[in-house]
Amino acid sequence: MDQQKIQIFDTTLRDGEQVPGCKLNTAEKVEVAKRLEALGVDVIEAGFPISSPGDFGSVEAIAKVVKNATVCGLSRAVEKDITTAAEALKKAARPRIHTGIGTSDSHVIHKLRTTREKVVERAIAAVSLAKKYVEDVEFYAEDAGRTDNEFLAYVCEQAVKAGATVLNIPDTTGYCLPEEYGAKIKFLRENVKGVHNVRLSTHCHNDLGMATANSIAGVLNGATQIECTINGIGERAGNTALEEVVMVLRQHPDLAKYTDINTQQLNAISRYVSETMRVPVQPNKAIVGANAFAHSSGIHQDGVIKNRETYEIINPLDVGVDHSSIVLTARSGRAALAYRMKNLGYELTRDELDVVYAQFLKVADDKKEVEDDDLHGIAEYKQKVAV
Ligand code: KIV
Ligand code: ZN
Repeated sequence: MDQQKIQIFDTTLRDGEQVPGCKLNTAEKVEVAKRLEALGVDVIEAGFPISSPGDFGSVEAIAKVVKNATVCGLSRAVEKDITTAAEALKKAARPRIHTGIGTSDSHVIHKLRTTREKVVERAIAAVSLAKKYVEDVEFYAEDAGRTDNEFLAYVCEQAVKAGATVLNIPDTTGYCLPEEYGAKIKFLRENVKGVHNVRLSTHCHNDLGMATANSIAGVLNGATQIECTINGIGERAGNTALEEVVMVLRQHPDLAKYTDINTQQLNAISRYVSETMRVPVQPNKAIVGANAFAHSSGIHQDGVIKNRETYEIINPLDVGVDHSSIVLTARSGRAALAYRMKNLGYELTRDELDVVYAQFLKVADDKKEVEDDDLHGIAEYKQKVAV
């Protein structure tokens, strides 16, 4: 079966940077952008140029240094936003303007205080204006997740007619169920004239913890671009995590989709972004969390020591983690203790292991985790009682 390429659109520097306390300066943003390019992302959303002179300068600086990836700047469907984004992107080898407007009733009535007709007019005007500056124009229908499909299809069709090359379908509030979001993408594929000449993009937020599932549902129904951030950072509960969608597609060759991401860099870039943006990664975070390849219960440890694949579906080396770890706690068993003792140079007979294990449990009940230093102490104890 032919494999289909899925583009990765990274918005760590735009949606990700909207997290309170995450603000980066231009030099830091340029460094993140260089690392994203080396990682193999297809599109880097570098910022929202109208939002501040600092953001304008960062988008401009990133546009100058990034050569292979598309560099994208966000704008509302507002003339000054679009001309400012075009100005910031002037030096980009592959510039893209990302423009759009809210389409759900909630946005049309309460946020924009306008009508659907006016929204369509503004969408057409925004895409047409952006098209005067760049060939590659992405249109977003904000809150598409809660927009009725008929109206969404109509707005999208008008955006395509005005020259949009990409249609972004954001689940801005993270409300959709995977089946619902997938069905929305399918509906657009089947009901928007000209959709086959443009790219459909997912942009999912994680308010109900479904951003990754929704993005994958979108791809399975015809989207060929996923918008995401490193570590899933972003507004509120965050955006789709880049490392998660990339690894879902990689670990499921049956889906016949691939990305150009060099997965061995995922762990390093996750740490870099976490440290630079000062957002810790939760230990149990999929793929890049400190515990993603750590085994602590006796049953699991016994399985992993016999064969890694019993409890690991990803080879840690594939995401840049050099080994899995066997963590020793009071829930660990003899196999794990023997394994860790052996790594420290202590080969134990079965009888010795019984003695050492009893001593180990005493230490483990007093501590959250038994470390190498404790194991050396336990080995000395063994010598003293000399079984
Ligand atoms: O979540 C959203 O709708 C967005 C758009 C501005 C693309 O971030
Ligand atoms: Zn967003």
